[in-house]
Amino acid sequence: MKRIEKVADMAKTSRILAAEGKSIGFVPTMGYLHDGHLALVREAGKENDVVIMSIFVNPAQFGPGEDFESYPRDLERDAALAEKAGVDILFHPSPEEMYPEESDIRILPGRQADVLCGASRPGHFDGVLKVLTKLFHLTRPERAYFGQKDAQQLAIIETFVRNYNFPLEIRRVATVREEDGLAKSSRNVRLTPEERKEAPAIYAALKDGARMLRESGDPELVLGMVRNSLGRIPDAEADYAEILDYPSLRPLSAESGEAIIAAAVRFSGARLIDNILVPLE
Ligand code: PAJ
Repeated sequence: MKRIEKVADMAKTSRILAAEGKSIGFVPTMGYLHDGHLALVREAGKENDVVIMSIFVNPAQFGPGEDFESYPRDLERDAALAEKAGVDILFHPSPEEMYPEESDIRILPGRQADVLCGASRPGHFDGVLKVLTKLFHLTRPERAYFGQKDAQQLAIIETFVRNYNFPLEIRRVATVREEDGLAKSSRNVRLTPEERKEAPAIYAALKDGARMLRESGDPELVLGMVRNSLGRIPDAEADYAEILDYPSLRPLSAESGEAIIAAAVRFSGARLIDNILVPLE
């Protein structure tokens, strides 16, 4: 596995690969890798000649008072895991390398960012689109891989890439979970042992919600039940729970083909998100 730290080296390497006719699969991450990230790598490996992973804790997508400084980092551990999973090129630039000058050009997401995490983390998705625009240009992927775990991020990126003709395909990868149902996340290590025991209740509530939605078809009723269940997690405070159309993230309508039930929950050391998609008749 080749490791690249410089933006210029990454740009040159991907240019050469493209000239050789190699297809590039790209997996952007913030590191502290787990099986969720590695599932993206495996998908990318199946469909492309070369797999590039980026590891960059992107300051632009963290708000004031959020966990940019304390976000877990371990580059050497990550490099070993990435190589084993089949990454060919690991791009891990420094913040100075990625953002050498203050840019006052902004990339703003649309209405899809007004709800869920976009509502509780103002500016978060601006920062995600900013870094991904740079990373897509630097890595020239034919396909880029994103987890359904971050369903709002995925939906916004799909719209962005489609609306602005980025020459790449976005691939969705299903959420990878612990045996007890908790969605794998780099932030899970921030949970106390007690909170770790409680955290699977998030997915349990979403699953009950999905079943109820299929049975009753009444989103308001289902939402009440989901919020109730999340409210009963002793050490957690629910940030939001919503049922929306996916991937538009508008209110459900008679035309909706798929619903998302999404929740964010705050424990003492970590804010966790999860979601479930429910096909509608
Ligand atoms: P990060 O949280 O590191 O996630 C990187 C990718 O892994 C995202 O596409 C995310 O959805 C996916 N992922 C995380 N946990 C997953 C799980 N349990 N199952 C399946 N996929 C999972 O998302 C980001 O980084 C950043 O916002 C980024 C896109 C890299 C831009 O900075």
